[in-house]
Amino acid sequence: MELSRPRAIMAAAGPWLLLLCLAAFAVLQAARAQHDNNGFISIDCGLSGETGGYEDKATKLSYVPDARFIDAGTNHNISAEYVTGSMAKSWRNVRSFGAGTRNCYTLRSLVSEPKYIIRAKFKYGNYDGLDSPPVFDLYIGVNYWYTVNISRSDELMIAEAIAVVPDDFVQVCLVNTGAGTPFISSLDVRPLHRTLYPQATVAQGLALTSRLNFGPTDEYAVVRYPSDPYDRLWFPMVDMLGWAVISTTKEVQHRNDDLFQVPSAVLRTAIRPRNASQKIDLSWSSGSSPMKPPPGYMLILGRPSPEYIVILHFAELQVLRGNAVRQLNVVLNDKPWYPQGFTLEYLYGVVACNSLPFQYSSYNLSVEATGDATLPPIINAAEIYSVFPTTHLGTHSQDVSAITAIKTKYRVKKNWMGDPCVPNAMAWDRLTCSYATGSNPRITSVNLSSSGLSDDISSSFTNLKAVKYLDLSNNSLIGSIPDALSQLPSLTVLDLSGNKLNGSIPSGLVKRIQDGSLDLRYGNNPNLCTSSCNMPAKTDMKLASYIAVPAVLLVVIVSLTTLLIYLLKSKKQGSMNNSITPRNEGHNSLRRLESRQFTYRELEIITNNFQRVLGQGGFGYVYDGFLGDGTQVAVKLRSHSSNQGAKEFLAEAQILTRIHHMNLVSMIGYCKDGEYMALVYEYMSEGTLQEHIDGCNRNGACLPWTKRLRIALESAQGLEYLHKGCNPPLIHRDVKSTNILLNAKLEARIADFGLSKAFNSADTHVSTNTLVGTPGYVDPEYQMTMQPTTKSDVYSFGVVLLELVTGKPAILQEAVPINIIQWVRQRLAQGNIEAVVDASMHNEYDVNAVWKVADIALKCTSQSSVHRPTMTEVVAQLQECIDLENAHGGDHANNDYNMSYDDFTTDQSTNVSQSITAFDMELNLRRSPTMSTGPATR
Ligand SMILES: *[C@@H]1O[C@H](CO)[C@@H](O)[C@H](O)[C@H]1NC(C)=O
Ligand SMILES: *[C@@H]1O[C@H](CO)[C@@H](O)[C@H](O)[C@H]1NC(C)=O
Ligand SMILES: *[C@@H]1O[C@H](CO)[C@@H](O)[C@H](O)[C@H]1NC(C)=O
Ligand SMILES: *[C@@H]1O[C@H](CO)[C@@H](O)[C@H](O)[C@H]1NC(C)=O
Ligand SMILES: *[C@@H]1O[C@H](CO)[C@@H](O)[C@H](O)[C@H]1NC(C)=O
Ligand SMILES: *[C@@H]1O[C@H](CO)[C@@H](O)[C@H](O)[C@H]1NC(C)=O
Repeated sequence: MELSRPRAIMAAAGPWLLLLCLAAFAVLQAARAQHDNNGFISIDCGLSGETGGYEDKATKLSYVPDARFIDAGTNHNISAEYVTGSMAKSWRNVRSFGAGTRNCYTLRSLVSEPKYIIRAKFKYGNYDGLDSPPVFDLYIGVNYWYTVNISRSDELMIAEAIAVVPDDFVQVCLVNTGAGTPFISSLDVRPLHRTLYPQATVAQGLALTSRLNFGPTDEYAVVRYPSDPYDRLWFPMVDMLGWAVISTTKEVQHRNDDLFQVPSAVLRTAIRPRNASQKIDLSWSSGSSPMKPPPGYMLILGRPSPEYIVILHFAELQVLRGNAVRQLNVVLNDKPWYPQGFTLEYLYGVVACNSLPFQYSSYNLSVEATGDATLPPIINAAEIYSVFPTTHLGTHSQDVSAITAIKTKYRVKKNWMGDPCVPNAMAWDRLTCSYATGSNPRITSVNLSSSGLSDDISSSFTNLKAVKYLDLSNNSLIGSIPDALSQLPSLTVLDLSGNKLNGSIPSGLVKRIQDGSLDLRYGNNPNLCTSSCNMPAKTDMKLASYIAVPAVLLVVIVSLTTLLIYLLKSKKQGSMNNSITPRNEGHNSLRRLESRQFTYRELEIITNNFQRVLGQGGFGYVYDGFLGDGTQVAVKLRSHSSNQGAKEFLAEAQILTRIHHMNLVSMIGYCKDGEYMALVYEYMSEGTLQEHIDGCNRNGACLPWTKRLRIALESAQGLEYLHKGCNPPLIHRDVKSTNILLNAKLEARIADFGLSKAFNSADTHVSTNTLVGTPGYVDPEYQMTMQPTTKSDVYSFGVVLLELVTGKPAILQEAVPINIIQWVRQRLAQGNIEAVVDASMHNEYDVNAVWKVADIALKCTSQSSVHRPTMTEVVAQLQECIDLENAHGGDHANNDYNMSYDDFTTDQSTNVSQSITAFDMELNLRRSPTMSTGPATR
């Protein structure tokens, strides 16, 4: 594969210097070139008002007040003597934090890109009349960033970082270190495309110490937005040491795959030594900067023992005539970066940089002409960053969302700011966390006893999945107790006593009490229905001693409970037969189905007495069969001993008779014969997509990329039809790679509509109390709200796309099991697609198409549904990927695959069938029906 790469002028490097200043993501960058200021957040801290704001004169960017981003601190205007006419409005007021050790701004919905420029600005201006500028610390999330040490009241201090934000929010925190009251003037956040500044990774951020524009003559002429679409601040370096200026009025471009995208306005000017035989020197020592910002400005430098990233920008601005040669080298502390030197390109930017940080106590950097050069060296711009580690892990993001929702609902103040558990010393009062190396801390106990809580019990408590103790006693909570609390796997103590709760104890909790896994305290709730309803009187304290119950007794209790539940259910099933049809459908809905109806006897013939099992689900088995005309079919028979799935069965039958699409599995007929219910489908000989993704790793027969793309597009079309082609739209609710089936031509069809629901935004029926779906695929927003939407399917489909790209399962069983989305995000944040692509594709893919699919998948799996595309958009994007791949000349690998795959099915069919069964059984512990058809031996 030969992409049209620019001339690789940075190729040669010393052994200690790994250069990565060029990359090959031309297409994405081109798409990115249509900049707008979407995604910019510009906050004027301390500006009064909840809403409103103003347009900044110089940049035309909108600044908003900070009330939406923080709920602590007080507003102040700086003292009038420090206000100057030319000063931007955002410097005129501050928010200061007299209370609390840590105060944080929370910036949400950061989903467009994982990498951001974060800029905080400070002008003390004697706002408090104490004439005593403070010193305090800044953190990005849970990672230390800078110490702000303000020495003069009139100084304008700027702190800037480039950081990867793994979540869809980021916090900027000011920490009081006992040397004065922290304050802030303004806060800017600018998204950067993820491929830019590859030295900024999940593990390290870049803290700006210098960003120099060489050659302007006006010392105030800071280049920023809109000249720089990312709104970096390029500070002019004027007339230093008598350098001569070179400039052009022409546009200076950068290559599409340039990793730094320096704007033309910066590259258009350069300097050279006045004496052509000298060099350009820049020196600085650890903790200082070679930069002299415009009068009044200061960049914050204070990081102890910094490590540096140096990025130098060059562009030839003169047409070289005849034998003139400009050839440069960069020498740092007497070590040349490029043995042969390098030449520049006319009106194109080129970059020299290091990827691994330097760690010296002082730096003597020079740009020199090589021996072959006839012209003096030049330089157009330079950036110097110190590196800061961002390896501290914040609290598990689901816990953070849940506890934040709880904080908001009950207006909890305390010290509830920043990350709940990290750093340990600043963890939130009344919470206990567990810390394990290598994984995010979890919240294990919440004690909001006697905290003046009113209103009902927040459903967010049920999202604290690691919580063991939950104490809400002695408050004014009203409403009923959510049954979903019984789903908290680790919960052992739940204290709700001393509230105003009503209703009865929900059955799930009763069960947990009875099996001894929960100590529920609910005394002193006058309106709560206990003994007269479903609770044995006064058992709560007795059950609290469950630990002491001998194991044998426990087994007896559990068996009795199980027996009781079983009896209750069988009784219910009797009545269910009468009410099996959904509301408004009347008795004979199955008979009204258009498809062919089979008797049980006919099914026996078709399946040769149910001889060969293709797969298994919670409802029973799927059998192989042949119709009279020889058509092969799959027969899904509801086991009549199972009371589960009758509703799902009927739902699926009804849906499948109503909808038809080439990418949805089609139903040939059904059977409703006494107790027996069955659905007859077209036969999908190549089984589930999951087997193909998984089988690849073990058996060497691997789906080539072009097939994966096609399968992705076809499944997307199937889902799009459910969402758009059906009225009201249908939500599948269980999209996953085991529910995408492949026929002999490897065409994809969506299967298993047992959980599908009609969705009507005006209709509240969709909201249910049971979360359905499969772990690893469930939309977090649905999990929070219990309200599935078409975007929940989009989320699950995004997970399937990631499986296709990576060949990995939705949940990776590593030392600490990790969700595929997190796994991919972490790797892509480093700009490295190779680190995620399924190695079994042997690089036979167009890298741009793979990037694009990964990009679509990450958009689909955005935390917040509004940021996810619709299936219609996904289909269009995937079509573009196929076009890209075709342009790349793709289809070569397909025939090979069909051949090797046939071999594989014949040899391995037994193993594969076993693996489906095991897989489905595991799933069915968690959910209702699953349909699978395994590959066939023909
Ligand atoms: C700051 O000054 C503006 C107008 O100059 C005024 O509206 C605002 O109330 C002042 N804020 C404070 C906290 O004094
Ligand atoms: C702040 O900077 C001043 C010099 O500018 C220095 O003397 C002082 O020690 C610094 N304070 C802290 C806490 O770093
Ligand atoms: C230019 O620099 C060289 C070497 O540093 C020196 O020998 C020469 O005298 C300088 N020329 C002028 C005109 O300053
Ligand atoms: C940098 O140059 C200065 C002055 O020429 C010298 O004192 C210092 O040792 C040099 N530093 C390094 C690391 O080479
Ligand atoms: C919660 O805190 C209260 C007092 O702050 C204490 O009495 C109670 O035991 C705590 N609950 C748990 C479960 O630790
Ligand atoms: C219950 O909470 C109130 C404040 O909300 C407190 O004054 C009282 O002491 C608490 N009672 C107990 C028993 O903890």
